[in-house]
Amino acid sequence: MSRSLREKPVDRLTATEAAKELSALATEITEHDSAYHRDDSPTITDAAYDALRIRNSAIEQRFSKLIRADSPSRKVGAVAASGFKKVKHSTAMLSLDNLFSDDDVRDFDARVRRFLKLGPDEIVEMTAEPKIDGLSFSVRYENGRLTVAATRGDGTEGEDITANMRTIKGLPDFLMGDTPKVIEVRGEVYISKADFLAMNEEQAKKDGKIFANPRNAAAGSLRQLDPKMTAARPLKLFAYASGLVEGMDWETHWDFLMQLKTWGFPVNPDSKRCKTVDEILAAYRALESRRAALDYDIDGIVYKVNRSDWQKRLGFVSRAPRWATAHKFPAQQAETIVEEIEIQVGRTGALTPVAHLTPVNVGGVTVSRATLHNKDEIERKDIRKSDTVVVQRAGDVIPQIVEVKIDKRPKSSKAFIFPDHCPVCGSKAHREADEAVMRCTGGLFCKAQAVERLRHFVSRDAFDIEGMGEKNIESFFEDGTIKSPADLFRLEARDKKSLTPLCAKEGWGPQSAEKLFKAIDARRTISLERLIYALGIRLIGQAKARLLAQNYVSFKAWRAAMVAAVNGNTDVYAKLKGIESFGEIVTDELIAFFAEEQNLAAVDQLAGQLDKIEDFVQANISGSKIAGLTVVFTGNLERMTRNEAKSKALSLGAKVSGSVSKQTDLVVAGPGAGTKLKEAESLGVKVVDEDEFLRLIGA
Ligand code: IVH
Repeated sequence: MSRSLREKPVDRLTATEAAKELSALATEITEHDSAYHRDDSPTITDAAYDALRIRNSAIEQRFSKLIRADSPSRKVGAVAASGFKKVKHSTAMLSLDNLFSDDDVRDFDARVRRFLKLGPDEIVEMTAEPKIDGLSFSVRYENGRLTVAATRGDGTEGEDITANMRTIKGLPDFLMGDTPKVIEVRGEVYISKADFLAMNEEQAKKDGKIFANPRNAAAGSLRQLDPKMTAARPLKLFAYASGLVEGMDWETHWDFLMQLKTWGFPVNPDSKRCKTVDEILAAYRALESRRAALDYDIDGIVYKVNRSDWQKRLGFVSRAPRWATAHKFPAQQAETIVEEIEIQVGRTGALTPVAHLTPVNVGGVTVSRATLHNKDEIERKDIRKSDTVVVQRAGDVIPQIVEVKIDKRPKSSKAFIFPDHCPVCGSKAHREADEAVMRCTGGLFCKAQAVERLRHFVSRDAFDIEGMGEKNIESFFEDGTIKSPADLFRLEARDKKSLTPLCAKEGWGPQSAEKLFKAIDARRTISLERLIYALGIRLIGQAKARLLAQNYVSFKAWRAAMVAAVNGNTDVYAKLKGIESFGEIVTDELIAFFAEEQNLAAVDQLAGQLDKIEDFVQANISGSKIAGLTVVFTGNLERMTRNEAKSKALSLGAKVSGSVSKQTDLVVAGPGAGTKLKEAESLGVKVVDEDEFLRLIGA
């Protein structure tokens, strides 16, 4: 469609032009509907989409004879996606007309009065309910029992999502008390802003899809083919309407909402009853001012004529009821320019791209930065420096870039090249096989990661240095006292020569300083497995550190093997790869760590500060009843800590795992055990309590 035609005022279009444009709009809007409803990946902004629909309606109003059978004004949403069974709704799931101004709202009230032939003094009570920006559903109950749940689909036929909907807490399986013979309860499934952010963080860590907003995240989660996937997503719902109802009725919509509540459905607590248009508008403003503070996205407010008999008389026009309408909030999106793309390095070494934007007001908040998540995300959206972009406050917290205005891109623009080195320390950035994140490999000396690494280094299962909390580490790091693990062991000697000794610093005294030095000294002898674990090499947790120690026995042998592997010794590589549970991914991560010379130097400096790195000693497991068994601990243990129990089991030749599977031989369950215990029972895995475990290990 040519731009000039689209921009021509509707009242100047000829009939031929109108027909041509209506045809183009039908195709275009249908495509956007599919992208939005079926693929959960909208390709234009809501505002641009609304503009298309408004243009379509305006042309149809002027040329009513040209309204097409496939007109977007007669359809709702997209056709059902394949993969799910189809479900016919007993009564159509309709959409709502959108109002944008106070005058529109007054017109709506006037239209209702005119239709019902009511005078201006007659009270037309309306409900005002938050318009949840989620995914609508319809759930059918027969004699109080949930039978079928469906998406809206095209309004007459949706997808059967019964199994998925059943996983959502808050959706009753049964309706207690008075129930109609049949009822279709309708509402909206959504994901809270906080859950959405956490979910995207998780997705960014894995190679998962980044969702543009909570609505898409909810849609993607609800339409998983495997209900277990849906169950793992934090879906919530609000109920707000009915479809077919047989054998029960209510005088007002409000009464119906109260009945929903009694049946156990979540009903939005911000729903109100209003007696006048002014009250309606006040409710709109009150909600708009609280919009950012709500824990879920809303895109407006829905007004519904409260009296059921009036609703019946008002009925429907094509795709929307005459008795209800939506009053939309202004879009939370705005256009601005990407001034720079910066790579930030997180505490775990993850390289995260961030766009610096020309500050712009988005829904009342100035936005000057937007997260770009990871390398793939920049490439997928092809975001470049100097691009004009549409930003949106998704989840109202971290702004995101939803669209690049390609037509406004400067000719000289070049694609962004994601760095392959850490911008903080210059180490190589490394990407794990199944991760989307690029990570800095300079773990032991990269400033961005130092505090996190040191915190891990002194933690209980590593060097276990008492009195070295996160706050202390941060302040030692900031004043330059401790930059690497070796510095920790130089602390006392340096302190003795310092003009500002620790005991003179705020929060410290001679006794506490002495205590810390003692705690550090006590760890100058350490086992090889603890030392390996303490280095915080990615993917090398306690179990893998132990396996390395077991395989190489001494620090010297282990160090030599690491260097040989870095230098391409294939035998050593094969041996590492062959260690149980290692494979290529873990091995490559180890090599990437030692390939960074400064890491090796940091390890050597540390070793130089220690008195002794103890060789690995194979425990005497003869007579052990748990040698070779895979053991899982769950619930609370009362006579020992979880860590004690684990290390006892390990020392007796058992493998300790965090999750129950068919490979599990024994589950030790204490009070408060939950899912793991249930899984063990369903898989027929042997379960013992703490006392029985103590007997087994001969304690
Ligand atoms: S009532 C016949 N109430 O908004 C009336 N809809 O743009 C049916 N929505 O299709 C809808 N919150 O998916 C109603 N409190 C609310 C709502 C609500 C969100 C959605 C719903 C509807 C769409 C229309």
